Amino acid sequence: MRRTRIIGTGSYLPEQVVSNRDLEARVDTTDAWIVERSGIRQRHLAAEGQTTADLAYEAAQRALQSAGLTGADLDLIILATATPDHTFPATATKVQTRLGMNRGFAFDLQAVCSGFVYALATADNFIKVGQAQRALVIGAETFSRILDWKDRTTCVLFGDGAGAVVLEAGEGTGTAADRGILSAHLHSDGRYHDLLYVDGGPSTTGTVGHVRMKGNEVFRHAVTNLAAVVNETLAANGLTPEAIDWVVPHQANVRILDGTARKLGLPRERMIVTVDRHANTSAASIPLALDEAIRDGRIKPGQLLLLEAMGGGFTWGACLVRL
Ligand code: UT7
Repeated sequence: MRRTRIIGTGSYLPEQVVSNRDLEARVDTTDAWIVERSGIRQRHLAAEGQTTADLAYEAAQRALQSAGLTGADLDLIILATATPDHTFPATATKVQTRLGMNRGFAFDLQAVCSGFVYALATADNFIKVGQAQRALVIGAETFSRILDWKDRTTCVLFGDGAGAVVLEAGEGTGTAADRGILSAHLHSDGRYHDLLYVDGGPSTTGTVGHVRMKGNEVFRHAVTNLAAVVNETLAANGLTPEAIDWVVPHQANVRILDGTARKLGLPRERMIVTVDRHANTSAASIPLALDEAIRDGRIKPGQLLLLEAMGGGFTWGACLVRL
């Protein structure tokens, strides 16, 4: 059976680090409130003129380097982002050209904070049916550009960054012992649109708009939906939580991570946490966390990883991967 393997990872954070204390000078907030309610201590912000494509390109280069490939080896790029450079064309095609990939196809995918999980699942399907042999999946965001810097309930929570994985078709036996993406589980429910959205867009206001969120309601749904999709993933593979070596979650709030771990009976030590240093980087947060933990040696080849995310839409999902 055809399996989609992760053969390289890379990530990039813009140079500028903004601490909670720095934000105290900008909005009516405190370091203590941000740390207590979210676990966030700092975030990276893109420099003036630095775009989502720039961050995506840096992460992609590092991922290709770790896979020992170049852009010319790719058949497909999927770029998950809610903050594209332009309304069109896709930011993915910009990255495609900069990577020297002049064939195949590239497109953006919009599922906000669940974007990376959606993009990984989509690439897996293209590879499994034989429509691509090698793919690059990127999560990249410049969320700082759609924040209302006067709204303290949202602007302290997000950061900019990018992460990427290189995927390649391989063979497996169809069991959970295979290396590669073992299963993907995606959900959305548009009834919750108004709890987390951007109040602008090309077809509505003609402006880019700003992030609006009813944080405490999103929080409640996040813990419930994430625990449900993790249980769904484990059941689909005939596994119990003990089988998971690492959970690599979307990084929105350390209390969501703790709540999900508690609900699932998963030890917190088996969760990769970057939200304290990266804040919420939307579609970029999972590949950023994955790359960090692979490079520092925590995540090792052959281990079983559970990637999960929830975001605006609502959208949510999980992927089970053996590295
Ligand atoms: O990635 C996509 C999914 N997004 C998420 O998962 C985010 C989910 N939500 C959250 O992470 C949390 O709900 C927040 C961190 C956004 C907020 O934490 P909370 O414990 O739910 O706080 P709250 O929204 O209930 O607000 C509590 C208080 C309010 O004051 P009152 O009304 O109780 O007097 C807010 O006005 O905290 C106040 N507040 C702040 N105070 C200082 C809100 N933002 C700030 C701030 N600094 N930045």
